[in-house]
Amino acid sequence: MMRTEAFAKVNLTLEVFGVRPDGYHALRSLVVPISLSDTIEVEPSQTLASDTGYADDLILKAARALDPFRGAAFRVVKRIPAGGGLGGGSADAAAALVALNEMWNLGRSREELCEIGAQVGSDVPALVFGGPVVMQGRGEVVERASCPRLDLVLVNPGIHTSTREVYARCTARDIAAPSATGACLDALASGDLGRIAASFANDLALPACRLHPEIADAMSSLRTAGAIGVAMSGSGSSVFGLVESASRAEEVAESLRKKGLSAWAVHTL
Ligand code: C5P
Repeated sequence: MMRTEAFAKVNLTLEVFGVRPDGYHALRSLVVPISLSDTIEVEPSQTLASDTGYADDLILKAARALDPFRGAAFRVVKRIPAGGGLGGGSADAAAALVALNEMWNLGRSREELCEIGAQVGSDVPALVFGGPVVMQGRGEVVERASCPRLDLVLVNPGIHTSTREVYARCTARDIAAPSATGACLDALASGDLGRIAASFANDLALPACRLHPEIADAMSSLRTAGAIGVAMSGSGSSVFGLVESASRAEEVAESLRKKGLSAWAVHTL
């Protein structure tokens, strides 16, 4: 039996450009793994199965994309809220690809696993790559980036956003305009928390907040509770706030939980 942790991600930036001929949006995003994970166990088996009970189980999709003729049995301890913009399903799929490559002795390279991951979901290549990355294209182009440890508070408003609907309502930015991702990388390199907080950007936040005002409410709650900067992750509904330290993250998360919100103190990996 193999056991592995599938880490969630946040998008510190998410810039959306035009629609590509394949119907997906071209994007640029700084994707950073965080200390919130699902635990995945996998065992050899004649058939392919998982205990998640999801109709659209990205673990099984990933396994079939890697090798449609082999079996494996998965058990998942789910902690990442599903459909929350934290890449939960994609992180599970990425961890499954890496684990099955080993268990089935396939010898695929990280790059090959990223390519297979791209068929499973737009966020999978970034999560197979592991560590902070700048992701481009529809998600299939990933490049290593660096990010210091950031202490964050996550809030999940408990609603499910439709990724497709949020993208469809988003205003594309000019590809020639200065890169928000570049500005965020510069701010991260400076180590200045105020600058870092001001550099978070997500082009999907406005359409997501218009569809679901609860997301804007969660961002206000984080600000009121003391976060220096707040942003939405992915296509929502989860939002995060930057704070000064791990102990501050615990305090802010606890104060939000007392108000009935789902909040976690996490940090970037
Ligand atoms: O690839 P994934 O299944 O995560 O994408 C879900 C939906 O999000 C797509 O069907 C598409 O409508 C939208 N999307 C997009 N451009 C991207 C990624 C996702 O339009 N780069």
